[in-house]
Amino acid sequence: LPVLPLDTLGRPLHDLRLSVIEACNFRCGYCMPADRVPDDYGFDAATRLSFDEIETLVRGFARVGVRKLRITGGEPLLRKDLPDLIARLAAIPGIEDLALTTNASLLARQARALRRAGLRRLTVSLDALDAALFRQLSGDRGDVAAVLAGLDAAVETGFESIKLNCVVQRGVNDGEVLRLVEHFRGSGHVLRFIEYMDVGTCNGWDRERVVPSAELRDRIHARWPLQPLDPHYRGEVAKRYGFVDGGGEVGFVSSVTAPFCGDCHRARISADGHLYTCLFAAGGTDLRPALRAGETALAERIAGLWSRRTDRYSELRGSPRAARRHVEMFLVGG
Ligand code: GTP
Ligand code: 5AD
Ligand code: SF4
Ligand code: SF4
Repeated sequence: LPVLPLDTLGRPLHDLRLSVIEACNFRCGYCMPADRVPDDYGFDAATRLSFDEIETLVRGFARVGVRKLRITGGEPLLRKDLPDLIARLAAIPGIEDLALTTNASLLARQARALRRAGLRRLTVSLDALDAALFRQLSGDRGDVAAVLAGLDAAVETGFESIKLNCVVQRGVNDGEVLRLVEHFRGSGHVLRFIEYMDVGTCNGWDRERVVPSAELRDRIHARWPLQPLDPHYRGEVAKRYGFVDGGGEVGFVSSVTAPFCGDCHRARISADGHLYTCLFAAGGTDLRPALRAGETALAERIAGLWSRRTDRYSELRGSPRAARRHVEMFLVGG
């Protein structure tokens, strides 16, 4: 394939976020609340791409410019034999960066196998350190001690980079912010605070519960002075700040108060092989027919779809032009 596709706004395709499973053992209220996604929701392993299909898919994406691959879910550590898949994906030419986002509840027993398979970067979701609050936020399913044990295991196994994602909701877990900063300052891990987003259709989003990143930054700065850091690369999602005293850095993902669609070079794939060109897309495109036709046909199909892309939901949020239907977060992994 000669040229790398640009979308209608001139954005290249650089990152792929690949969901390997739509199920999760948690029920976070902002993603898949238990009253809307019960245990008998109908998750079906038979609908998921096989490892062979996933490998071909990623090879196809690498052909059209993808260099960075993030494995997501649902909860990806629930996917059977995940380390085998990681090993296959890590070996694909062009994939320079491979990371995984997890709730870490099952990480303690899988960290070693994942590291051995070639995974080097991990992002762990952690919304509270308080055990009772953590349990409540996970839909009464999670144990923060297991998550912290997973983190310890990841450190022992030698992961090169560990990030922590905290989705902040006013009146819910904003009281945990300074406690999290205190806990992870100086650990070498990068803690990021994420503005609560209106993803999916079932999380009952309320703008009043969004805590603007600027407010959190000021609160942290008052206790541990911060200074802005340059992005690692153009279009980095999190804005970085370093502790003036050398205690490491924190990041802020501000999709509500400071949308970053202008540089958005991310595609998302659901576990059943649909392409979503935006986290807030109303629908996806089934890539399985092209996948069955082989890597070249697939690359051409992806390039065609990407070159027609117009998405910039976060910039349109609230305007009449913003789409009202959104794919569920747990199908596209955030
Ligand atoms: P790094 O390369 O490790 O910095 O990865 P990342 O920050 O791109 O990935 P991560 O999965 O940690 O994303 C952090 C948060 O930002 C998650 O809650 C995502 O849902 C959110 N996010 C990531 N990409 C986008 C995006 O394109 N649009 C919006 N609105 N949110 C995004
Ligand atoms: N708003 C912001 N972040 C969210 N995530 C899931 N749902 C939301 C939401 N409504 C985050 C998770 C995880 C990442 C994959 O997406 O906390 O860190
Ligand atoms: Fe599961 Fe992550 Fe969604 Fe929470 S945010 S329900 S851990 S997929
Ligand atoms: Fe990209 Fe859509 Fe997020 Fe904008 S809202 S940054 S287009 S995924």
